[in-house]
Amino acid sequence: MTNIKSEQKESEELVLPNDRPQYEQRVTKQPTSGKYIIITITLISIIIVGFGLGLCAQIYFQAESDVLPICDKRIIGYYSGSGTSNITSTQLSNLTHTVFAFVYMTPDGTLLFNNQIEKNRFLKLKEVVRNGNSKIKLMFSIGGKDNSKYFSSVIPSEERIQTFIESILEFLEAYDLDGVDLFWKWPEEEYRDAYFAFINQLRKTFEAKKKYYILSIVIPPPTLDGWGKKRLNKIIESVDFINAYSTDYYTPLADNLSDDIAGPSAPIYFGAQGKSERNVHHTARNYSCLTKQASKFNIVIPFYATLWENVYETVLDSKRGVYRHVAPFYGRTVGKTYLSRLAVKQEGFQVESYSYDPAPRAAFSYNRTIGIYLTFETKESIRAKIDYVKDRILGGVWIFSVDMDDETNSQLKAVSFDGFCTIGNGSKYECV
Ligand SMILES: *[C@@H]1O[C@H](CO)[C@@H](O)[C@H](O)[C@H]1NC(C)=O
Ligand SMILES: *[C@@H]1O[C@H](CO)[C@@H](O)[C@H](O)[C@H]1NC(C)=O
Ligand SMILES: *[C@@H]1O[C@H](CO)[C@@H](O)[C@H](O)[C@H]1NC(C)=O
Ligand SMILES: *[C@@H]1O[C@H](CO)[C@@H](O)[C@H](O)[C@H]1NC(C)=O
Ligand SMILES: *[C@@H]1O[C@H](CO)[C@@H](O)[C@H](O)[C@H]1NC(C)=O
Ligand SMILES: *[C@@H]1O[C@H](CO)[C@@H](O)[C@H](O)[C@H]1NC(C)=O
Repeated sequence: MTNIKSEQKESEELVLPNDRPQYEQRVTKQPTSGKYIIITITLISIIIVGFGLGLCAQIYFQAESDVLPICDKRIIGYYSGSGTSNITSTQLSNLTHTVFAFVYMTPDGTLLFNNQIEKNRFLKLKEVVRNGNSKIKLMFSIGGKDNSKYFSSVIPSEERIQTFIESILEFLEAYDLDGVDLFWKWPEEEYRDAYFAFINQLRKTFEAKKKYYILSIVIPPPTLDGWGKKRLNKIIESVDFINAYSTDYYTPLADNLSDDIAGPSAPIYFGAQGKSERNVHHTARNYSCLTKQASKFNIVIPFYATLWENVYETVLDSKRGVYRHVAPFYGRTVGKTYLSRLAVKQEGFQVESYSYDPAPRAAFSYNRTIGIYLTFETKESIRAKIDYVKDRILGGVWIFSVDMDDETNSQLKAVSFDGFCTIGNGSKYECV
């Protein structure tokens, strides 16, 4: 009996959005008692058996033929607090989640807005979200490239973790938000165990509140200090989804991935010679294989353009214009990684003409005369990422960030799973 009941529950979960587990149902379950109820239970059981078998047949049919659409794809749009573009309901109609990035964290774990302007922008986002499609989730993010420095002060201290958790709850409650995103880029080895323990503790605190809050995290690509199977599996049940930082595989920023090669930020396949791990496919396959839960992972669609200076001939043996040598200037690569569409225009460049390389599924433009190389997402490259998510049955995409698009939201318009639904195709990863 119980077997069939739990089977039925599982089958229901298949069609629910991933970030809404059965928690609410669990807490509202009524205890039953009394003699006559036994008869009722028997009757209900018969009905459930019938219903369960029916559903099983349906699920079996679905798995066999893959014809029923699954409408749980995530399109997560980050909005930067420092952005200046208008937030519109049209933008939001193409998203399942919006994430305000970032809320400032003090060394003792208290959360604050960076300033009044950012707070106003957050309130504006909230207003547009709440006035429109009520299904869209509103979250806030803590961390990011420039805001992560105090995690390492808070995470090792139980007292500061308490402050931090209370502050997160205050934020969620005070602004009536749906969840929180942790964007610590990236914890050093010595902090990781404590960070993962904190993630689990945060989930438990939410559960104790009897209100379901979404919890998501951003993780680095496996090549850049990935977190490994043991650790991922320790936290994967505590988080609703994981945004893989599947971008900046090539960047003029001085970090460990950057070098003397200019290339696309988020190529799906391929790589410049000897760099075959720097692509979305490697990251997504690695994490899917390690956890066997591909649908927990979202890949990024970067809405920013990246520019290099002093760029020359193509990389030897690659024969592809998309990968090119860069001459360092006084020992450093010169360029800009996070250019909004407006900034591209202000720099005197445009994104209307470009070359598209179908192997990495990436676009670029190169001006030989001035040695400038620019790479950005286009309709084709976005389409390729959407198809990739469908084919590999990943969870969805995260956009960084919606406000970096142009005034007509050209990039956002290309991001669509046909109403968040896909028909599972399931070219499975070959896991070694
Ligand atoms: C935002 O919208 C207002 C009017 O609604 C308009 O005047 C302003 O130019 C817009 N700003 C941007 C950056 O598009
Ligand atoms: C690059 O990685 C090495 C070791 O993996 C580390 O010592 C170094 O600090 C890193 N450099 C940067 C700029 O992050
Ligand atoms: C994931 O990537 C790491 C680092 O590159 C590698 O050591 C590991 O074998 C990979 N695992 C899988 C299952 O791809
Ligand atoms: C390259 O840049 C130069 C200088 O800005 C400009 O005159 C030329 O038209 C550009 N070439 C292309 C193909 O865009
Ligand atoms: C995305 O926006 C466009 C234009 O507003 C709309 O036609 C399309 O249906 C939207 N897609 C989704 C999935 O809502
Ligand atoms: C399913 O896979 C086939 C062949 O691998 C591909 O042509 C097709 O576009 C895929 N379908 C979807 C919905 O992505």
